[in-house]
Amino acid sequence: MTTTTHRIIIDCDPGHDDMAAILLAAANPAIKIEAITAVCGNASVDNTTNNALRIVDTFGLDIPVYRGATQPLLHRYEFPAQFHGPTGLDSAGAELPAATSTVAEGHAVDAIIRLVDANPGEISLVVVGPMTNVALVLALRPDLAPKIKQIVFMGGSSGEGNVTPAAEFNIWADAEAARMVFKAGVPLVMFGLNVTHQTLLRRADVAAVRDAVPGDNMVADILEYYCGTYYRFAGADKPGAPLHDPCCIAWLIDPSLFEISAHAGEVIVDNGGAYGQTLIDLRPQDPAHDQREKNVGLAVAADPERFATLVTQAMIWAAERVSTRTQDVAS
Ligand code: BDR
Ligand code: CA
Repeated sequence: MTTTTHRIIIDCDPGHDDMAAILLAAANPAIKIEAITAVCGNASVDNTTNNALRIVDTFGLDIPVYRGATQPLLHRYEFPAQFHGPTGLDSAGAELPAATSTVAEGHAVDAIIRLVDANPGEISLVVVGPMTNVALVLALRPDLAPKIKQIVFMGGSSGEGNVTPAAEFNIWADAEAARMVFKAGVPLVMFGLNVTHQTLLRRADVAAVRDAVPGDNMVADILEYYCGTYYRFAGADKPGAPLHDPCCIAWLIDPSLFEISAHAGEVIVDNGGAYGQTLIDLRPQDPAHDQREKNVGLAVAADPERFATLVTQAMIWAAERVSTRTQDVAS
């Protein structure tokens, strides 16, 4: 019998790679998803909440979904339709069916507070969207910071950005929230573009998901939409598309997939070209002269081959699960 080694809340904005992260966690018995909390990001919070419900319903996951922040802390929400399509979870073929379950009662921020408060040191927050919900938790209840086991997040970069030369989308979408989270004193493990651009979902991986379930295969269709979007702007010659959000879950499942190193880091919120940049100090730090806390565990390297295998197996698990559930309903 596998015992739970990680109890997590997935704070997300599904989103194709968010869906892959949820399914990767759901496929692994060592991980217990206590709640999914949605935030505005890849789409409006109405759409990301609805998408989270469609995911739990389609794949038969018994996980409560809470609706979170509608707007970033200071800025007006800007809808980045080019990445994940108008719904936030568009498909190249079959769409996920409409949700049949309903959103859990209460705000996502209250749900996170309640779960962390009741389980001190037990819950890891896996944050794969803008950090608005988490910043609100820490603003309302700063005393909870020591009770959060860790915040494992996809966001930022120690190198180039994707929405601007300096900034990655999740951090840029609410940089003030991210700045608060970086300063909260909670252990942080960061999966930025510097490493997620190594962890590709390759063409052969999508083909393997497709081949595993002949006929209708909405998991493969959704992954194809995601990769297609990437190839359109990054180039059709690319061997695969970066699968950002599942890195956080993959690390929880198998830490040997990544190399993590500790650094001092902050989020830039000045208006200007660097807005939303995660400024990570990669220089060697001389403890005699530099007392700054190394507040960020930065993923600096990955094993792309083993990562792709792990994710592909989980996507096949999910595709087979839908197929079995559909057959059960039909018979
Ligand atoms: C991040 O932005 C979103 O588009 C993805 O879901 C991921 O969380 C990558 O920059
Ligand atoms: Ca995301």
